Amino acid sequence: MSQVREHWSSRLGFIMAAIGSAIGLGILWKFPYVVGQNGGGLFLFTYLFAVALIGVPLFIGEILLGRMTQSAAIGAFSHEEASGSWKVGAFLGIASSFLIMSFYSVIAGWGLSYVVMSLTGFYQGLALDQIPLIYEKLSKSGGITVMWHFLFTAICMGIVFAGVRKGIEYWSQIMVKILLVLLLILFSYSLTLKGLHQAVQFVFYPNWDKFKVSSMLEALGLAFFTLSLGQGIMISYGSYMKGKENVVKTSAIVGLSVITVAFLAALTIFPVVFSFDLSPDAGLGMVFQTLPFLFAQLPGSLVLSTIFFSLFVFTAITSAVPLIEVCATNLMEKAGLDRHKAVVLVSAGTFLFGIPSALAQTGWVFPMWEKIFGINFLETMDRLVSVWLIPLAGLITSLYVGWKVDRRELREQFMRGHQSDALWSIWYGFMRYVIPVIVFCIILQKSGILDLSMQG
Ligand code: PHE
Repeated sequence: MSQVREHWSSRLGFIMAAIGSAIGLGILWKFPYVVGQNGGGLFLFTYLFAVALIGVPLFIGEILLGRMTQSAAIGAFSHEEASGSWKVGAFLGIASSFLIMSFYSVIAGWGLSYVVMSLTGFYQGLALDQIPLIYEKLSKSGGITVMWHFLFTAICMGIVFAGVRKGIEYWSQIMVKILLVLLLILFSYSLTLKGLHQAVQFVFYPNWDKFKVSSMLEALGLAFFTLSLGQGIMISYGSYMKGKENVVKTSAIVGLSVITVAFLAALTIFPVVFSFDLSPDAGLGMVFQTLPFLFAQLPGSLVLSTIFFSLFVFTAITSAVPLIEVCATNLMEKAGLDRHKAVVLVSAGTFLFGIPSALAQTGWVFPMWEKIFGINFLETMDRLVSVWLIPLAGLITSLYVGWKVDRRELREQFMRGHQSDALWSIWYGFMRYVIPVIVFCIILQKSGILDLSMQG
């Protein structure tokens, strides 16, 4: 290819884009409710463990792979001679990007609707017990949900249409900073609530009753999801990176930011849950049902609520845009389509495929779904991706980097930015043995082939 590859304008630009992709609905929407459903403390620590020991090393692996090959996922997985079927790793990533986008935009669409509701003061003056009902109503209004889903998809399509990198880099920087400040404000308020004590206990105290060994795959999947791994996205981001940067440090910063925001989000939301007698395992609607309680209590509630949900949508955009981008660039390369056609096709595809997710809580399509599978269509897509496809893609990536990629070349990439030999050996050992073995065991366990559980 004769095109010159664009690169991030600075290290900070890369970090911010990576954080922008990482911090999204995974943390703001999914993390709190999954922690709630899995009984709090123990799950949270498994998640932290998964981010630090499996997520960050794999993150480093994906970035190095991208920077070394200077190509996106499919190219990166074909870099070594006779790479043959390793490309499956890239295809899994593309498939899951498509699936994630299909339901991601439904949730983000609800966020958009909350922006409008905040702006119009819709839930101001409502009795407190009415607040959670707004979400119930919204998620059961199929036509409205589909409309917001469409709008969000269209916004993301517009951005990818116009070119991603500079826009994403620029906006991510601004969004992430404002989001942090706002979360800190909300968090400080949560500290004053009477449910704080219970929340802290819930978040930090291991609850063995609710935690199953099978929750481990969920925690791992969530760690991968929140770090945007297994999608080929970090491979692309690595390929836009300049040569000299210290990937280890950069990746650690991203991991740390994700953990910090996750904690802040949990410690903001759970005090509300316990102060207003809500259920910690409320499920999908948790963020929409809890935070408005806070907003309703605070001075300037309309402004805060509008800012929060706008940020919610913006962080969703900075995460969603690369999802479309990954599918579109591969379609361009494989099917020889031009950029505009590919982007429209992918967006139309995720929109259409997302409709059953948008209607999941209305019972209009696949009415028996929840009875048969125990969870609705949207949750099924989420599980399929987070519990199966992403960990599988992660497994393939670690095996490819650990066993197939030329060791010397990889080492040389790793050592840039003055790493110690010991760190290299540890990391390489993780890619070759630790990550594959852990992920493999958890997948076997989850699929029922291996039974490690004491309690199911
Ligand atoms: N990391 C994003 C989030 O937490 C989701 C995402 C996953 C984005 C994979 C891109 C790729 O919301």
